[in-house]
Amino acid sequence: MFSILLVPGLIALAYIFRQVVVIGKSCKSNAKLHGKTVIITGSNTGIGKATAIEMAKRGARVILACRSKQRGEAALQDVKRESGSNKVVFMQLDLGSLKSVHSFAENFLKSEPRLDILINNAGLIAFGRTENGFGMMFGVNHLGHFLLTNLLLDRLKECGPSRVVNVSSGLHKLGKIGFDYLNTNKDLGLGTSLLDRFRIYGSSKLCNVLFTHELAKRLQETKVTCYSLHPGVIKTELNRNTNSILKIIIKIIGGLLMKNPTQGSQTTLYCALQEGIEHLSGCYFSNCTAKEVLAKAKDDATAKKLWEISQRFCNL
Ligand SMILES: NC(=O)c1ccc[n+]([C@@H]2O[C@H](COP(=O)([O-])OP(=O)(O)OC[C@H]3O[C@@H](n4cnc5c(N)ncnc54)[C@H](OP(=O)(O)O)[C@@H]3O)[C@@H](O)[C@H]2O)c1
Ligand SMILES: *[C@@H]1O[C@H](CO)[C@@H](O)[C@H](O)[C@H]1NC(C)=O
Ligand SMILES: *[C@@H]1O[C@H](CO)[C@@H](O)[C@H](O)[C@H]1NC(C)=O
Repeated sequence: MFSILLVPGLIALAYIFRQVVVIGKSCKSNAKLHGKTVIITGSNTGIGKATAIEMAKRGARVILACRSKQRGEAALQDVKRESGSNKVVFMQLDLGSLKSVHSFAENFLKSEPRLDILINNAGLIAFGRTENGFGMMFGVNHLGHFLLTNLLLDRLKECGPSRVVNVSSGLHKLGKIGFDYLNTNKDLGLGTSLLDRFRIYGSSKLCNVLFTHELAKRLQETKVTCYSLHPGVIKTELNRNTNSILKIIIKIIGGLLMKNPTQGSQTTLYCALQEGIEHLSGCYFSNCTAKEVLAKAKDDATAKKLWEISQRFCNL
């Protein structure tokens, strides 16, 4: 008797575990976005693409801001098809190049009258340097978005109530920012191993949380609100530059322990769309819920210092 029940019992348990612990809450807002414009960086794959499809379904004009013309245009067709909307545009943006960020912003401000939601989603785990000599993860995950957000801020203010959403990561808890090192090396740390990679990735994500904290303060008198978030653990291409053992492990356990991109886009959608969270501007979200962060992720002095060094790095 017992053995007959064992298999269905285990399947049921795994199902419940997956629903409650892995997938968690989803965005319940019914907000429609007709007449609104949304930019999503890194939206040719993964969570960004899932977010773009949902925004387009809700009627928004969606700008896919992606670095590769080929991958961006392929995604453009997919997003149009899956959302049934024609109001989707690809615009080239390489966050590893300050020049590219400038020309994207110029191009956008010239051709698009509105900006209602900016979603800073692009991110990567990789070593190397950007075009401007910054550490790759610092340069793309943080600095490129810093410049982009600043260049688009006036348009966001004009279109308020508007929002900025920063896709960070739970791994920001591992992060730390050594300003002396950053100042002389234009990077968040030195390393070669897989662990170093995650540590520096975590630091770049800590920058996102700190920036949201500082930006919220600077936007207090405006109708722009901002949020940072952890999307969960999602099966995407994010691990493309990590080692093959990790990739095999993810293949095996991913189906049970990781979200798919649509599930992974829920907290981003929540921060972008949920009515009545404006008073939580500057907060960090996970599982569609505002969460308390560690002291280092809301330290006023560090946030201000990071803002200033970023301004200097971007010649702002
Ligand atoms: N997956 C997870 O479990 C997880 C967990 C926590 C946080 N996150 C965060 O979620 C966000 C989305 O990641 P994902 O999981 O969807 O990963 P993904 O599938 O690898 O997608 C990342 C996107 O970022 C783009 N990108 C990378 N470098 C860029 C650059 N220099 N300029 C412009 N775009 C660039 C990629 O473009 P290409 O395709 O051209 O490379 C791609 O579109 C990231 O910020 C990531 O840190 C993910
Ligand atoms: C997400 O929130 C729901 C409802 O509050 C809760 O039941 C679930 O355990 C949470 N999941 C995670 C992964 O935190
Ligand atoms: C998002 O993060 C970037 C880079 O860390 C920062 O420049 C920008 O101000 C942040 N925006 C919000 C709303 O947090």
